[in-house]
Amino acid sequence: MRRVTLTQFLIEQQRAGRTTPELRLLIEVVARAVKAISVNVSKGALAGVLGEAGTDNVQGEAQKKLDVIANEILLQANEWGGHLAAMASEEVEEVHQIPFDYPKGGFLLLFDPLDGSSNIDVNISVGTIFSVLRNPEGDGEPTEQNFLQPGREQVAAGYALYGPSTQLILTVGDGVHGFTLDREMGSFIYTHPFMTVPNETQEFAINASNARYWEPPVQRYIAELQAGKSGPRGKDFNMRWVASMVADVHRILTRGGIFMYPMDEKCRDKGGKLRLMYEANPMAMIIEQAGGAATTGRERIMDLQPTKLHQRVPVVLGSAAEVERVTKYHLEG
Ligand code: AHG
Ligand code: MN
Ligand code: MN
Repeated sequence: MRRVTLTQFLIEQQRAGRTTPELRLLIEVVARAVKAISVNVSKGALAGVLGEAGTDNVQGEAQKKLDVIANEILLQANEWGGHLAAMASEEVEEVHQIPFDYPKGGFLLLFDPLDGSSNIDVNISVGTIFSVLRNPEGDGEPTEQNFLQPGREQVAAGYALYGPSTQLILTVGDGVHGFTLDREMGSFIYTHPFMTVPNETQEFAINASNARYWEPPVQRYIAELQAGKSGPRGKDFNMRWVASMVADVHRILTRGGIFMYPMDEKCRDKGGKLRLMYEANPMAMIIEQAGGAATTGRERIMDLQPTKLHQRVPVVLGSAAEVERVTKYHLEG
């Protein structure tokens, strides 16, 4: 079988006019960083990368050593290539400017360096999520304001999943494409062309320990799923919750499902749990590109006008028929 590498895939996309040399370079650099993160994640205790870093990030969350390592890898890998105007990271409060001795490019890169941090020490899948926007200001030093573009403006989005195998999932607005890391060769191989999310599903993902804080439309929806065959849905549903958004979304991209981190009384004052710019938006683009849907329960995620770099939002995404139903329950209520 002919093996297509990520590089070959991107060059072919470029020839077809679906991507530019600059965006191709950006994606290749992110992929290289992902390989380095994958090496660190998989070494675990052998490399002394488990446990707390002893610091808090901008969100007031305790950083794990791997949060810090993954963040450093992504920042350093992307600084020198000349393809970026600036970066933003879950782990960095302000916009990260490109050092002045390097050339600058036209894109803004946003990332969650290590998603699912609570799973690091227990050896369960974690990931990296990224989003690419155009810098609207051309050559100047980008400000936070330049990043505050709705998700529909993303030119590319993707994630890496550090699971039993390391996978890179990518969209440049022409479907969703999956690559698997060949560790011996050190290259990503094109293994999952045009991934799609089935319209219907019998699987849901939500942190049920928050049930008492949910809003009535979420209470209603989940109660109906739990009632199974004997309830209004007339069929049984299965539940999964990895607590790594990347892993939960990847399962949905592979076999369907609905993922929810909805608004609840516990996270209301923060606006939600998940971050809009580097969690919800890139995942929404991927899910929509795969034929699914992504809303806050009330509005399409990619239509939200961001007001802050580290803004949080409620998230409902996955199989379109289920996301539409949840959204309908919210809008009725
Ligand atoms: P991060 O590790 O980047 O802070 O993100 C964790 C997120 C997401 O990956 C996951 O779906 C969710 O938080 C889990 O939240 P609970 O611990 O409340 O289940
Ligand atoms: Mn995350
Ligand atoms: Mn994170």
